[in-house]
Amino acid sequence: MQFQISDSDAMHDFGQRLGQALVGGDIVVLDGPLGAGKTTLVQGIGLGLDVAGSITSPTFVVSRIHRAGERGIGLIHVDAYRLKTATDLLDMEVDDQPNSVLVLEWGRPFVEALSSRWLDVSIARDDYGSDEDPASGQRTLVINSHGPDWDHVLKALS
Ligand SMILES: Nc1ncnc2c1ncn2[C@@H]1O[C@H](COP(=O)(O)OP(=O)(O)OP(=O)(O)O)[C@@H](O)[C@H]1O
Ligand SMILES: [Mg+2]
Repeated sequence: MQFQISDSDAMHDFGQRLGQALVGGDIVVLDGPLGAGKTTLVQGIGLGLDVAGSITSPTFVVSRIHRAGERGIGLIHVDAYRLKTATDLLDMEVDDQPNSVLVLEWGRPFVEALSSRWLDVSIARDDYGSDEDPASGQRTLVINSHGPDWDHVLKALS
């Protein structure tokens, strides 16, 4: 499934709809180049999940945990960019949290060691904006589901 995302607000809204459709135990693998909108998307997911705390890139901390709000679902936000093996993720037991959604930025090489069920989200920059605002411009978001029971999520997005 593919979606064109015209601006930052649209990315945030898309994340919110995704977050609303996710439940505890779901895993989302996310990648995209610098400034693609990964953090913007996860901020929307956090809003949809109604988790506590502001969401920023977890680059320097590897993992950030956001406590559950009204929906009773937390968010574990991991940046796996610098990881070499899945061992650290397994040691952190991020895969064993039935009451949290796990978002794994750059997690594709490791996710199969954690689960056979995940949603793969890839963001591409279609252009590199204008001179005045190099960050602007449409993004293409490609979603591939792995394993069972993603239909309701995909339906919520379309
Ligand atoms: N269509 C769009 N989708 C998402 N973000 C957009 C879009 N157009 C412009 N932007 C802007 O692009 C920037 C995306 O930044 P963001 O921090 O979300 O990216 P990132 O992928 O997390 O980057 P990094 O790799 O540095 O962590 C924001 O400033 C946002 O306002
Ligand atoms: Mg980021």
